[in-house]
Amino acid sequence: MESALTARDRVGVQDFVLLENYTSENAFIENLRKRFSEKLIYTYIGSVLVSVNPYRPLNIYTPYHQEKYQGVNFYEMPPHVYAISDNAYRSMRNEYRDQCILISGESGSGKTEASKYILQYLSICSSNNEKVEYIKSRLLQSNPVLEAFGNAKTHRNDNSSRFGKYMDIQFDYRGAPIGGHILNYLLEKSRVVHQAQGERNFHIFYQLLEGADDELMSRMRLKRNPDNYHYLAQGKCAKVSSINDKNDFLTIKKALKVLSFSDEQVTALFYIVASVLHLGNINFTDSGGRANIAKESMADVQTVAALLDCEAAQLEKALTHRTIEANREKMCSPLNVDQAVYARDALAKAVYGRMFDWLVHTINESLSVQNQVRRSLIGLLDIYGFEIFQKNSFEQFCINYCNEKLQQLFIELTLKQEQEEYRAEGIAWEPVEYFNNKIICDLVEERHKGIIDIMDEECLRPGDPTDQTFLKKLEETVGEHPHFITHALGDSKLRKTIQYDEFRMIHYAGDVTYGVEGFLDKNNDLLFRDLKETMSEASNTVIKNTFLKSELTKLKRPETVGTQFRSSLNKLMEILMSKEPSYVRCIKPNDTKQPDRFEETLVRHQVKYLGLMENLRVRRAGFAYRRTHDVFVKRYKSLCPDTWPHYRGSAKDGVQTLCQYLQYKEDEYRVGKTKIFIRFPKTLFATEDAFQLRKHELAALMQATWRGFRQWKLFHRMRNAVTTISSQWKRVQAQRLKEKRKKAVDVVRKFIIGFINRGKPRCPENANFLDYVRISYLHRCRDKLPKNVLDKSWPTPPAALTETAELLQRLNMQNMTRRYVKRTTPEKKRAMEEKVVASELFRDKKESYEDSLKRPFTDKRLTEPMKPKMMAMIEGGEKVAYSCHVTKYDRHGYHARERVLAITSKSSYLFDSKDGKLKQKIGHDILTGISISNLSDDLFVLHAPVENKEKGDMIVRSEYSIEAVTKIAILSGKKSEVRIVTKNLAHEMAGGKQGQIEFIVGPEPSITKAKSGNLIVVSTGRSR
Ligand SMILES: Nc1ncnc2c1ncn2[C@@H]1O[C@H](COP(=O)(O)OP(=O)(O)O)[C@@H](O)[C@H]1O
Ligand SMILES: [Mg+2]
Repeated sequence: MESALTARDRVGVQDFVLLENYTSENAFIENLRKRFSEKLIYTYIGSVLVSVNPYRPLNIYTPYHQEKYQGVNFYEMPPHVYAISDNAYRSMRNEYRDQCILISGESGSGKTEASKYILQYLSICSSNNEKVEYIKSRLLQSNPVLEAFGNAKTHRNDNSSRFGKYMDIQFDYRGAPIGGHILNYLLEKSRVVHQAQGERNFHIFYQLLEGADDELMSRMRLKRNPDNYHYLAQGKCAKVSSINDKNDFLTIKKALKVLSFSDEQVTALFYIVASVLHLGNINFTDSGGRANIAKESMADVQTVAALLDCEAAQLEKALTHRTIEANREKMCSPLNVDQAVYARDALAKAVYGRMFDWLVHTINESLSVQNQVRRSLIGLLDIYGFEIFQKNSFEQFCINYCNEKLQQLFIELTLKQEQEEYRAEGIAWEPVEYFNNKIICDLVEERHKGIIDIMDEECLRPGDPTDQTFLKKLEETVGEHPHFITHALGDSKLRKTIQYDEFRMIHYAGDVTYGVEGFLDKNNDLLFRDLKETMSEASNTVIKNTFLKSELTKLKRPETVGTQFRSSLNKLMEILMSKEPSYVRCIKPNDTKQPDRFEETLVRHQVKYLGLMENLRVRRAGFAYRRTHDVFVKRYKSLCPDTWPHYRGSAKDGVQTLCQYLQYKEDEYRVGKTKIFIRFPKTLFATEDAFQLRKHELAALMQATWRGFRQWKLFHRMRNAVTTISSQWKRVQAQRLKEKRKKAVDVVRKFIIGFINRGKPRCPENANFLDYVRISYLHRCRDKLPKNVLDKSWPTPPAALTETAELLQRLNMQNMTRRYVKRTTPEKKRAMEEKVVASELFRDKKESYEDSLKRPFTDKRLTEPMKPKMMAMIEGGEKVAYSCHVTKYDRHGYHARERVLAITSKSSYLFDSKDGKLKQKIGHDILTGISISNLSDDLFVLHAPVENKEKGDMIVRSEYSIEAVTKIAILSGKKSEVRIVTKNLAHEMAGGKQGQIEFIVGPEPSITKAKSGNLIVVSTGRSR
């Protein structure tokens, strides 16, 4: 409840008890109005629910709401009929106390709707199983059926209950519904035969005409238009916009099925409804004071007889005659027209009324608990509300009497409860003044002195009692009563408002003027014996079971309606008194069934007569607010450091501590045995406001704490996870290491055994070892393969692999060679071939050969390009295959001159280095030899004949003598003409002379002409 207090300015207070100005009716009504305009139709007075009819569907009865209210503290949610239901249900289930929910309020104030919501709520709040579902649906389906037969449109309400209904819902020990029982009270039977203008007969008549299929209609010989029937035409409003008779008919047909009505029973019911319509259309003609059935009505008589399955002739006679038994003699006398009409209407009422009782009875059978010990129950009372019409008759008298009784019960129970609570809590009780309506109840029901007894007396009195004599009798007996007045008893002002045939009662809910006409008849509820007899012989299932033959033989006069009603009400009061009550007080905001209209005077009137102000005063006389200690401490403990966050002592001490800390004044509160009572709402509001502020602080604090806690938990979780993972990992690692070591030991052991046995032929002991040796040798070979063909190294093989090693080495060599060859270009190959030629020519023959090995041969040693002049001298564009600088020595005098030597495929040319002139050319064809010493000098001689202008031998020196000689030998094809000379070399000179060249070893290389005329070529020795 407190959670919405902040909005109290706008929507008012949810509990009137919290109204500051609680004695003011205006404040009360203002609060109701405020809430009504916010569509908050419910408000509490303590535990009493005040409900204002919204006259519009509200979105507060959804499954969501039903769930919300389940099992929550009554005051924690906004007021709701579900909260009342839940409270009753919990008390019933938890404390095993039978409960009753009393719904009161005037006609159209929302009682029946409330009772439906309660029933609906009770049916969902228990657990479900098939059996429970089955009984729940029956409980729920009983409603539309009873409403069809027992509700009607009145001026006050389009769906006004015209009977009282008390329904017990029975639950097993787990709180699941297992059955139900309905008590019905005084159906307003007069409605069957008469309706005021603007009102309707019971819904079922219209539903049948609208909804029955054609086949059934023709069987019942009915026409669809209600105006065809006297019993429906009087009200002149067969159609009501808020009612869909056709749909409703389908609904009740389904409901009857759910309630296990057999097809035969359903047909019998509809036949009776139809028969009543036909009965209403039976007219009489007068023939000399005797009533005869009018000709055109004979068909209706036939139809009624057919529908009720009785003798038409017997029915016809019973409608027009009356048999009286006097002195054991039966006398049959004809009826006059008035009497016949009376008899007809009496039959219609009796048939309908008994059918209704049978209906309730049959529904009860369908709801009855089978083979189950019932545990506890919740009673639901939805009874006709207080009614004031333009013309009020016997029915209104009974209805209003019933409401007086309920008000009485309400007063007694609420006051008693309140008093008992204070006493139980040990708190002084201050009595409150309130209007006790017991005096009115007494006026109606007191033995011998009350209106009911007077009426009975008048009915039974010999002579000719009439409604007028009854009124006289009333004036004589209760004329003095302050709540009773008649035309004769009133002063002149009152007389104007009361007719001669009326009496007025000052009810708790207002003054009602009743017309006495019909009172005695209705009280007698007389049905002539002839009609009873006819009915008792009928075969219609329902009629057969409701008009029993035994009734005819009973000597005792049946009890009057008034007396029956009084005793049934008193029984009801007993039933209700034995249970723990909850109240729903319904208020209707306007008389025109309109939403959003809050007629203040109308509401004020209801607030007054419902005694809501007194109710509030009683509730507030002591204390506005009360809660059990634990609830109070739980809610407000955060406001005091001693009780926050946990109070360890008893809840009562906690309350004391809190109140002292909050500085409640002495007279503001009392601490009872189990509850704290707070006198003024403002005290509670101050506390509540403080709590709201505190709540925000706490929320922030809690959020922070919670976040911290969550982080802390997360951290711990992670830390634990880390520990777990690492310990697991360590274990795995240790395990692996162990396995590895074990394997290693095995391997080592095997290795050693293998080693020991290595000399033996292959056997299991040494097989692995030998394999290992082989493999490791192969690995070694792989890792240390020679990188080039010159590298002749090879790993030393174990004894067993000597042959393999040789093979491998050879293979590797072949491989490398192949690879080398593959990589070799044609130029390189040629160079190699040249080198090979050089090797053939000079190896071990000339000392400088070794040095030449390091220098690859090339085709051109010149640093600059050959001059064009030189190129022009070369014959026929021959290609120069080799060229180099040389020093040429004259054959005579041995002068040294710088020349360029160029070799082609045909000749060797010698050019002047400076001017490029051709100095000598020796064709390969005339080349007779090439001489070179065995020492390390660089001199060589190309021999050629002197004749024919040829100059003869060419003596040259070149740094690249080996290269040059090799090239010339190859190009000229005169390899075999290369001669290695030692010491001396003779060469041809012109004129047939011979020159001598001497080769000697000396400290410094030189080439000089000696005195002897010889050319001395000095070269350093081998050691160079
Ligand atoms: N809680 C409610 N929500 C919406 N409409 C309601 C509610 N209570 C009553 N009504 C409207 O008022 C009409 C009369 O209500 P009803 O319960 O039949 O009155 P009562 O039984 O007191 O005579 C209903 O038919 C419905 O239209
Ligand atoms: Mg009702």
